[in-house]
Amino acid sequence: MNSPVMQGLNLNTPAWVRNAKLVAWVADMVALCKPAAVYWCDGSQEEYDRLCQRLVDAGTFKRLNPAKRANSYLAWSDPSDVARVEDRTYICCERKEDAGPTNNWMAPAEMRATLNPLFDGCMRGRTMYVVPFSMGPLGSPIAHVGVELSDSPYVAVNMRIMTRMGKAVYDVLGVDGDYVPCVHTVGAPLEPGQQDSSWPCNKTKYIVHYPETREIWSYGSGYGGNALLGKKCFALRIASKMGRDQGWLAEHMLILGVTNPQGKKYHVAAAFPSACGKTNFAMLIPPKGFEGWKVTTIGDDIAWIKPAADGRLYAINPEAGYFGVAPGTNTKTNPNCMASLQRDVIFTNVALTDDGDVWWEGMDGDAPAHAIDWQGKDWTPQIARETGAKAAHPNARFTVAATNNPALDPEWDNPAGVAIDAFIFGGRRSTTVPLVTEAHDWVEGVYMAATMGSETTAAAFGQQGVVRRDPFAMLPFAGYNMAEYFQHWLDLGRKLQASGAKLPKIYTTNWFRKGEDGKFVWPGYGENMRVLKWMLDRIEGKVQGETHVFGVSPSYQELEWEGLPFTQEQFRQVTGIDLPAWQQELQLHHELFQQLEHKLPQELKDTKARIEQRLAA
Ligand code: OXD
Ligand code: MN
Repeated sequence: MNSPVMQGLNLNTPAWVRNAKLVAWVADMVALCKPAAVYWCDGSQEEYDRLCQRLVDAGTFKRLNPAKRANSYLAWSDPSDVARVEDRTYICCERKEDAGPTNNWMAPAEMRATLNPLFDGCMRGRTMYVVPFSMGPLGSPIAHVGVELSDSPYVAVNMRIMTRMGKAVYDVLGVDGDYVPCVHTVGAPLEPGQQDSSWPCNKTKYIVHYPETREIWSYGSGYGGNALLGKKCFALRIASKMGRDQGWLAEHMLILGVTNPQGKKYHVAAAFPSACGKTNFAMLIPPKGFEGWKVTTIGDDIAWIKPAADGRLYAINPEAGYFGVAPGTNTKTNPNCMASLQRDVIFTNVALTDDGDVWWEGMDGDAPAHAIDWQGKDWTPQIARETGAKAAHPNARFTVAATNNPALDPEWDNPAGVAIDAFIFGGRRSTTVPLVTEAHDWVEGVYMAATMGSETTAAAFGQQGVVRRDPFAMLPFAGYNMAEYFQHWLDLGRKLQASGAKLPKIYTTNWFRKGEDGKFVWPGYGENMRVLKWMLDRIEGKVQGETHVFGVSPSYQELEWEGLPFTQEQFRQVTGIDLPAWQQELQLHHELFQQLEHKLPQELKDTKARIEQRLAA
């Protein structure tokens, strides 16, 4: 193909790009963003190494000591650009009610008029990287292709780890295949001769989705979910709307396989809000007392779930890597993750040690005597004690390929996905919510997931530790009206049930109850296997549990305690149901339902009334 020439800039379209619509779109975006050059990523190792070197030369990356961590880099972001910006995230569909009351909304025409001047010339002096990616195995009938245009080489190299990125995507696209167009800029054009900063970004930020035309436009941030547009923007916000239109689910869920000593394998998908331990749970190593059990990872953050002809729900992980929270990760909380991070990692906002390695709060062993913190300042344990300075930002991240994970499930790349036996919904609650509850049925499970509350974390900008309702752990990620999202879950369950299928059981968990001393009572991490096994025992009908107002929870005797000293009194502290606290909790459900009143399914209102009656009895 001849390279089109736009405004004097040669697009240099490679011969392997044969999709006319894509080339025309890139030309249009070049005309708008006015980059100094266009670079079409091929996804090769050679390209990755070259771009990483460019990032080292620009001061964005530091190469870590290869004797400590081979082929790994550290980036420090601008201190103002460290997390997802939920208040700057928009769902722009024609009708406000289609975005619903939990999303920021602006009419598409108004948003386009707002963004157009911002994007005009936004890439001046920079290279536009054309990043083709597949969410899900290449060419799989359940995968979808996106193309991200970004002026950030940091984004290009992260996308190579987080997605199936590169030349082969163009074979899938062919001459007329479809893709989700994603435009990303750090919003920091360079004047001729202007010195670049190591983390360019802009105070003004917009993370914009047009679900009706399936487009993503991101302005001003280079960080995580704001910039790696395959993840939250595409695989959750745009895909959730696609799923609703087409009869499937895009969920903020890990997927794991669990195999018992007899060799029977189950698959579980679990939704926890951001920074609440999905990666740890997905890579869990069964503790003492669970010899012969194995947990394997299919995904740690996102699941695309589709009903199949056999009436079961099959899940794939659309991603190819992990963008996980580093602080708190160690060989006790997540040994498989620590093993994954031995090489080929991009770290962002962790500390640099004097021997050229990384460190973060909660890593194994003693803190280093000296390090450079994520803001480039000297850090010592004494400085930390005196000033409270953190060596790593609480939302510091690692980016690493799934294939580095020793516990990777052999089915992780299977285009057909894995059949789900149970869903888990888990919030971070220091009070009220018990360790584990099985919902009476699908509708009550949907109710429990819909009304889930969780204490906020550093994954999003804003106040931390306040309880907010986070339905299905999807509050920041639903690409359409949350009330209609509930309806979609109810409809799917009804449809599967009508086909005679056995639906997955639905559980809620809370690993985070605290005692009077303010400490977590449940040990969590690998010990969560005890709860997982109880769920499987329920699926097999081996344990009865104890029925209460919201569902069924285990008796003390039903959990396997070998290897864990945990008293009946401690068990009571994590499972007890405090009725006055639950009456208050129901009041919060009421407030959520009032907010979503317009399209709230009647079934959920009826369920609430039923639970209220049980509570009053
Ligand atoms: C994430 C998040 O990065 O949920 O996965 O914030
Ligand atoms: Mn997440």
